[in-house]
Amino acid sequence: MVQKQSIILGIESSCDDTSVAILEGNRILANFIANQEVHTEFGGVVPELASRAHQQNIIPVIEKGLKEANRSLSEIDAIAYTRGPGMLGSLLVGSSFAKGLSIALNKPLVEVNHMKAHILAHFIKDNASCPQFPFLCLTVSGGHTQIVLVKSPLDMEVLGKTLDDAAGEAFDKAAKMMDIPYPGGPLIDKYAQEGNPKAFPFKISNMKGYNFSFSGLKTGILYFLRKKVEENPNFIAENRADICASIQHTIVATLLKKLELAVKNLSINEVAIAGGVSANSELRKQLKAKEVLGWNVHLPKFEYCTDNGAMIAIAGKYLFEVEQFGELQNPPSPRLKF
Ligand code: KG4
Ligand code: ZN
Repeated sequence: MVQKQSIILGIESSCDDTSVAILEGNRILANFIANQEVHTEFGGVVPELASRAHQQNIIPVIEKGLKEANRSLSEIDAIAYTRGPGMLGSLLVGSSFAKGLSIALNKPLVEVNHMKAHILAHFIKDNASCPQFPFLCLTVSGGHTQIVLVKSPLDMEVLGKTLDDAAGEAFDKAAKMMDIPYPGGPLIDKYAQEGNPKAFPFKISNMKGYNFSFSGLKTGILYFLRKKVEENPNFIAENRADICASIQHTIVATLLKKLELAVKNLSINEVAIAGGVSANSELRKQLKAKEVLGWNVHLPKFEYCTDNGAMIAIAGKYLFEVEQFGELQNPPSPRLKF
């Protein structure tokens, strides 16, 4: 007899994207994301505006998701939601909604760690490839930068992390210095396509072990731009592509240096990237180039790089299968431990 595959509703609301997905087995039936435009003019996410926008978006996004998936709420087996890490006000909207649905439908609740979910997005069926355990995952987002040893969907160990800014934050803050709107990462990536990555050499930080630091680079870029703009007020506009390519080159080199060290020391050639910055074209290109060295490189599909409900649903599925259910009284956790 064919066993019925579980259907999981995934709700993501940790930052500025309200997203809902419906997953059947390992297959995504719908993955809707409502981006919030309200933050662009402020150069970063404004927490209060983010939670208000989540409140406006969440019901329409769930309705769209169910319609696209051609499923009704009664067919859902569990509701998975992001418990943390993230911004409290944003997390509160998703978690309250998930809890309300769980009570109304009498269906189990599953609490998902956002960073683990980024990694588990690799196991959604429509990715180009799927990593074998154990593998190393460079998890790079707006709030985190980690090298994780992934032994199984439920057994992961952080080998190293950033001691200050995250890689995505480095992209966004550098962009802000150049008056590039938030989120700056994708735009730096775009402008860098036309630029020379060696035009302006910035320093690659060298932290102990597998740890990272990006705050020195941020300060380095700030002083560099200040000096150049004093000499020529049009410096940024005239050199935008070269500046972007140089910054991107430095961030990618910093990330790859530590990943290479982990691959060498642990003798693990199975390598993946996850999180918003894994959408970066230079990072993807340079990682793919490592395949000649025997690395098996897994790049997530673009829609599963930045925040999405699909990754919450797949992470929720693994917890649901072992009956690790959430508790209604558990509050959202902005600094949820990995
Ligand atoms: O995972 P994510 O969507 O949200 C967090 O969990 O933080 O990551 C967002 C981050 C932002 O900093 C954004 O600038 C960065 O990912 N990002 C990129 C690219 N696309 C998104 N950074 C560099 N290149 C990109 N193509
Ligand atoms: Zn994220």
